[in-house]
Amino acid sequence: MNKLRNKVAVITGGNSGIGYGIAEAFSKEGAIGAITGRNKDTLNKALKSLNSGFLALSGDINRGEELEHIFKTTSDKFGEIDILVVNAGGVVDGVPMESITDITEDHFDRYMDLNLKSAYFTVKESLPYLKDGASIILIGSSAAHRAAPGMTVYGAAKAAVISMAKGLSLDLLYRNIRVNVLSPGTIKTPAFDKMIPAESLDEVLQTWVDLIPVGRPGHPSDIGNAAVFLASEDSKFIVGTELLADGGMTNISLMK
Ligand SMILES: NC(=O)c1ccc[n+]([C@@H]2O[C@H](COP(=O)([O-])OP(=O)(O)OC[C@H]3O[C@@H](n4cnc5c(N)ncnc54)[C@H](OP(=O)(O)O)[C@@H]3O)[C@@H](O)[C@H]2O)c1
Repeated sequence: MNKLRNKVAVITGGNSGIGYGIAEAFSKEGAIGAITGRNKDTLNKALKSLNSGFLALSGDINRGEELEHIFKTTSDKFGEIDILVVNAGGVVDGVPMESITDITEDHFDRYMDLNLKSAYFTVKESLPYLKDGASIILIGSSAAHRAAPGMTVYGAAKAAVISMAKGLSLDLLYRNIRVNVLSPGTIKTPAFDKMIPAESLDEVLQTWVDLIPVGRPGHPSDIGNAAVFLASEDSKFIVGTELLADGGMTNISLMK
């Protein structure tokens, strides 16, 4: 219950799916801080089930001044930030994940902006407000390791995020800030509703589940529990690496 007692955390995209699962797990372990997103309704809804030490702050992660506002507001209220979870990302609103035969340069840029550039600048904007010794968790994806239809650009962005954790750990070593990646596999979240028509959702999800050795999709709480570990002192010797939380999907093949 107390692994993160009074630790100040910022979780981008904490109003939905995986980010919300992480915020819930942090809240149960005694953390305080902020969840962020653009949608004020889901922000307020998410806030209700967290402990009273959390704020909901709206902001677009593609805009530096909005990120700055998020970090300044959090540290004005709670003091320096101990944990940053760079989670917001995934599906770009209204833009399908496409293969090279269909994608435009604009769509390529929008996926890279949301899943790679914003992650880098979220870290950069946070630096004046982070405590020395902080833990930064970047949310990667098993898609960085295993190709899937339409996911080439998204997977490449997440592969770059995994690389970035190593370079950022080096850049920030002088402040004892650890940067690690937590890469989920298939987790049932609203991201699927954004990508797949409602009538084929169950069938598509089952296709993914068939690839998962443990035989079920992940839940946001599975990622929340792993994030507690990377945020806490339990992982203090773990720097610049990746933790896959994917039910074995990346490393184990189900041959029949
Ligand atoms: N679900 C999976 O199977 C899976 C697997 C591997 C990795 N991931 C990664 O996990 C993370 C969370 O995904 P999810 O599945 O939980 O998806 P989700 O439910 O769609 O959540 C995405 C979150 O990102 C926020 N967001 C999106 N664009 C934003 C922007 N421009 N500015 C600020 N916030 C923005 C959304 O909030 P607003 O809409 O309110 O802005 C929302 O909170 C992503 O990085 C994704 O790539 C997911």
